[in-house]
Amino acid sequence: MSKASAPGKIILFGEHAVVYARPAIAVPVFQVRAEVELERLEIERLEIDAADLDKRYTLQDALPDDPIATIIRLTCARLNVEPNGLRVRVRSTIPIGGGLGSGAAVSVAIARAFAQHFSVTLSAGEASALAFEVEKLHHGTPSGIDNTVIAFEQPVYFVRDQPIESFRVARPFTIAIADTGIAAPTKIAVGDVRRAWQAERARYESLFDQIGSIAQKARAAIERGNVESLGALMNANQALLRALGVSSPEIETLVDAALRAGASGVKLCGAGRGGNVIALVDEVTQDKVARAWRDAGARNVIITQVN
Ligand code: PMV
Repeated sequence: MSKASAPGKIILFGEHAVVYARPAIAVPVFQVRAEVELERLEIERLEIDAADLDKRYTLQDALPDDPIATIIRLTCARLNVEPNGLRVRVRSTIPIGGGLGSGAAVSVAIARAFAQHFSVTLSAGEASALAFEVEKLHHGTPSGIDNTVIAFEQPVYFVRDQPIESFRVARPFTIAIADTGIAAPTKIAVGDVRRAWQAERARYESLFDQIGSIAQKARAAIERGNVESLGALMNANQALLRALGVSSPEIETLVDAALRAGASGVKLCGAGRGGNVIALVDEVTQDKVARAWRDAGARNVIITQVN
């Protein structure tokens, strides 16, 4: 049996503007993972068992735009092997539609499991490129940030269509993550932003520029170990995301709760409209923020260290 996995991710700064070639910063989240097992079967078919989606089907019966079937086909073509005689078991603790990269993590884990099974070395760049093809199914214009940070498993400063830049985290810091419990497809928020940008180009270009400049400042702060300044940058980023129209009442409830509990910065994470919210916390505030979030109705809270 071959087994592989891939972590979740959060976007610390720059979602949405990254689709329009502004820089963004993302980091892996190792507390949640997608895991894939391949088991040999004595049949001329490939079975897919995706329990989290409550789906069992064969590759041969999958719909043309099925993301799991697509990454299997693409990976087998890249490895030059036949997609037959296998059961592919997919499990994930990453919430679906939560802005934590569940789709990209499943793709990367599948690509890795097949490479391992057929004893082929697959670089992080290759796994990322395969997953990027599937991201295009989730929404037509992905920036590529999810597949990149998940395949490379390190903090990235990402600019669309440019080589990946890693950077030094001079001083570790702690991020708390809360799930609104609302699954929000990336496609809808990204599509709405695109239509709004088409209707009001100058205004949206200016919002994207301001978000990009926050991501640039945040990178410099992280590299200098100036963690204190990240909170204000997160709050400024959230104000701009609100102006883009991708926040929601549930997100704002968790934003207010975290600020009242002492977080120095809070923002939505990923496409918005639901999904997860992230806050900059420390040893003193992390428990207070987690408690405030649970009281305010958060489904799940994760504390992660960026280093
Ligand atoms: O799929 P999510 O929710 O992690 O959002 C991805 C981030 C966006 O900037 C909204 C889209 C993209 O392709 O970068």
